[in-house]
This record gives sequence, C-alpha cells and structure tokens, in this order.
Amino acid sequence: MEKYLNRSSIKKFTGKKMIDKDVELLSKIINNSPTSENHQLFSAIIIRNQKTLDWISRKNWNQSHIKNAAAFVLFVADRYRLTKINENNNIKKNQKTIYFDSLKAIIDATIACAYTMNAAIEMGYGTSMVGGIQSYGDEINKKLNIPKNAYSILGLSIGEISVKNKFKPKVNKVFNEIYNKKKSYKDFIQYDKDTYKEFIKRKKNGIIEEINNASDPKKHFLESDPYVKCSKYLEKIIKNK
Ligand SMILES: Cc1cc2nc3c(=O)[nH]c(=O)nc-3n(C[C@H](O)[C@H](O)[C@H](O)COP(=O)(O)O)c2cc1C
Repeated sequence: MEKYLNRSSIKKFTGKKMIDKDVELLSKIINNSPTSENHQLFSAIIIRNQKTLDWISRKNWNQSHIKNAAAFVLFVADRYRLTKINENNNIKKNQKTIYFDSLKAIIDATIACAYTMNAAIEMGYGTSMVGGIQSYGDEINKKLNIPKNAYSILGLSIGEISVKNKFKPKVNKVFNEIYNKKKSYKDFIQYDKDTYKEFIKRKKNGIIEEINNASDPKKHFLESDPYVKCSKYLEKIIKNK
C-alpha cells in the first residue's frame, strides 16, 4: 500500500526502454480493464519507438518524461469497432445516445489509463499521465493511424525512475456516508494556500513547475492556447463531429 500512499507523478526517467516481457504483461492487463456495458470502447497503443516518443515529447512542450519513458501508452476513446459492426448490420446511429456513447468511450479509455498506471506502479515503474495530447489530438490520430470514430484521449508515460518527485499537498475528497459542503470548501481553501506555498518553493529551487493553484487570477485564453485546443478537440469527440 506504501506505493499508493506515496505515489506522485514521475517526471524524470532513465530512458531505458521496456522489455518485451513487460509489454506483453501490460498488454494483457490493459485488455482486462472494465468497460461500460462490456462494449470495449477503448484501445491502447504502446509506443517504444524513440522517433515517435521524441515527436510526442516535442509536441507536449518538450516534456522529457515522454522521450525518456520506457514506454508511452496512448489511450484511445474508440467507437470504431462498434460503429463498423452496427453499419454492417444496418443498425442506424442513434442520435439520442450520441453523447452517452461518446462519453462511455472517454470513460472506458480513462479507466484503462488508471488501471494501467496502477499495474505499472506494481511492476516498479514510475508514471505520469499526459492529457496534453488532446491539444494536438488530430495530429497524433493521423500519425498513429487511428481510424474514424476513434480519438486519442490520454497518454501515460511509464518509466524507470531516475528522480522521484516530492509528494504534492493533497486535499480531502472523500466523505463518509454523506457529502459535507462546508468541509469540502474549507479544506480546499487551505489546500489552495498549501499548493501555492509548495509551488513557490519548487520555483525557487529551480524545479520548473507552473504555479497552478486554483485561486490564481483567470487567464485570458487565446485561440492558440493549448487549453482552447483541448476544449475544441473534446467537443468534437463528444459531438461525434
Ligand atoms: C487527466 C490528467 C492529465 C494530465 N496531463 C499531464 C500532462 O499533460 N503533463 C504532465 O506532465 N502531467 C500531467 N498530469 C499529471 C498531473 O499534473 C498530476 O497528476 C497532478 O499535478 C497531481 O500530482 P501527482 O500526480 O504527483 O499527485 C495529468 C494528470 C491527469 C489526471
């Protein structure tokens, strides 16, 4: 349990690539991730090719944990198989359930990512989730041959740990029996202050981290901002455009 109690995202890996045996084991585990209605609405692409890792890293603000990962797993919200089988059986797309189906695929892929993260941790690796891929989703889908009705949604850097990140402050998000609004908000205010202090310290120590506590003044987003790009990409998936 210590591995889970002390887990933090790892950003510094040695660069050593994952051996085939571990890839085979992880593949079996990923295939066993639960799926909504058993519709199997996700896929995963395990990437060890250095050129591909370098490309993803460059696109992801040069984040080094991607290029130095033992493997990078790309999770895909994947309605390709189901859509195709429905087309072949002349079952018309149901417009009424389009959001439900899309979100089911996103949820399946996200759960698979968390399932894989835990398995990788058990295997002794460090991990970092990568949502940044959504800001260049169309490009990565094209590069990796991802079909229509399938969309990459989340990545996972898995690597041999070189430097372990310090544990970040955490806020309580668990309630017993019934939600406690007052405590929820009060704890978050304290958490926000602790987070701010921690990030200031990290910045001073040269550990480059964004000071991204929740009460920071709202940014004015430009069309070119990654967050705007992520939002547009997610809208496209949900609306099945
Ligand atoms: C959905 C999701 C997307 C994330 N995307 C990125 C990312 O693109 N790059 C990155 O370095 N970390 C990413 N992270 C890691 C978070 O920044 C990290 O989990 C958070 O700061 C809490 O730190 P901890 O994991 O050490 O507890 C992501 C995490 C989640 C859950």
